[in-house]
Amino acid sequence: MTEFTIATIPGDGVGREVMPESIRVLDALAPRHDASFRYTGFDWSTEYYLQHGCMMPPGGIEQLRGFDALLLGAVGHPDVPDHITLNGLLLPIRRAFDQYACVRPAKLYAGVASPLRDKAPGSIDMVVVRENTEGEYAQVGGFVYHHMPQEVAVQTAVFTRHGVERIIRYAFDLARKRNGKKRVASITKSNAQGFGMVLWDRTFAEVRREYPDIETESLLIDAAAMNFIRRPESFDVVVGSNLFGDILSDISAMIVGSMGLAPSANIDPTRRFPSLFEPVHGSAPDIAGKGIVNPLAMILSAGQMLEFLGLEQAAAELESAVAEVLAEGKALPKDLGGTVSTSAVTDAVLAKVA
Ligand SMILES: NC(=O)c1ccc[n+]([C@@H]2O[C@H](COP(=O)([O-])OP(=O)(O)OC[C@H]3O[C@@H](n4cnc5c(N)ncnc54)[C@H](O)[C@@H]3O)[C@@H](O)[C@H]2O)c1
Repeated sequence: MTEFTIATIPGDGVGREVMPESIRVLDALAPRHDASFRYTGFDWSTEYYLQHGCMMPPGGIEQLRGFDALLLGAVGHPDVPDHITLNGLLLPIRRAFDQYACVRPAKLYAGVASPLRDKAPGSIDMVVVRENTEGEYAQVGGFVYHHMPQEVAVQTAVFTRHGVERIIRYAFDLARKRNGKKRVASITKSNAQGFGMVLWDRTFAEVRREYPDIETESLLIDAAAMNFIRRPESFDVVVGSNLFGDILSDISAMIVGSMGLAPSANIDPTRRFPSLFEPVHGSAPDIAGKGIVNPLAMILSAGQMLEFLGLEQAAAELESAVAEVLAEGKALPKDLGGTVSTSAVTDAVLAKVA
């Protein structure tokens, strides 16, 4: 029996509701795969910030370092600006643990209606690979004449050859591993962002020569946004910068039915540090506390964690259970047109797992 240590950070809003649901599923699957999970909970959240003036305590990163993996619900609260909650918790974790690959699959499951017309189950099946440690989220810049009428803000995007090359290579390796359409689309805006994104395009052109078995295309972000709607079936692996990956993965989540179905993994592929698994969605204050949040994005994120920890069979069983629940359509949450509560959706997944 292998025991894995997992740090859980439920965070804010619906994050607190979906975290326990994913743990129920993990604990149901683990014993059948000769594994167990030992969880340590961290109450770092906006509530913690309002009490202590910081999202996590000094040395918080060190507290997480020794875990096998990290599970996070969501952070964000209407009373606190989002840049404080994001920069105080999630972004430092991603950077400190060099989780440079943010992997966001989007699949149209049977039983789920796409807002796009006439899309067959399985026809949309893509992964957005987002660069996760630099680019537009590097937090380089500052204010001059802060809070004065002539205030100036400078924000710099940072693209390093090292950072760009490794995320592009990750995307190609993933396309090979998926062994599906074997395509990688690279997204930039190099016509207007004439330095960092030109470096990206050049790097993509070089790396792709090493993968002659993979078809490629380079798209500008505006064309990519259009083509996610116009021809989503054509995409397999899509690689983009921190900002573009963030935006595109919200589009990919919506065209396969709901934010409530979109999982995400923040991975350090070198495994020097723990990787973090979280749904794409935020704390959803509009539905928090009502017991109606869809737990499947969090549950599928836990599935990505299983796969990363080497429990591939357990991950496959988890995804099949979710797919069966969706296909049957008897236990759908509100965002998918159903009436079933959060915990009842998980109950349905657990019944399939069993
Ligand atoms: N990784 C994160 O922690 C993360 C990501 C995105 C946003 N946020 C934060 O979350 C807060 C709310 O942001 P937002 O409203 O723009 O995005 P959101 O993802 O929280 O919600 C967007 C919409 O989708 C719905 N939704 C999201 N997840 C759902 C689910 N699992 N089931 C059913 N419906 C779901 C919400 O009800 C809402 O109408 C903000 O403070 C934002 O900064 C955090």
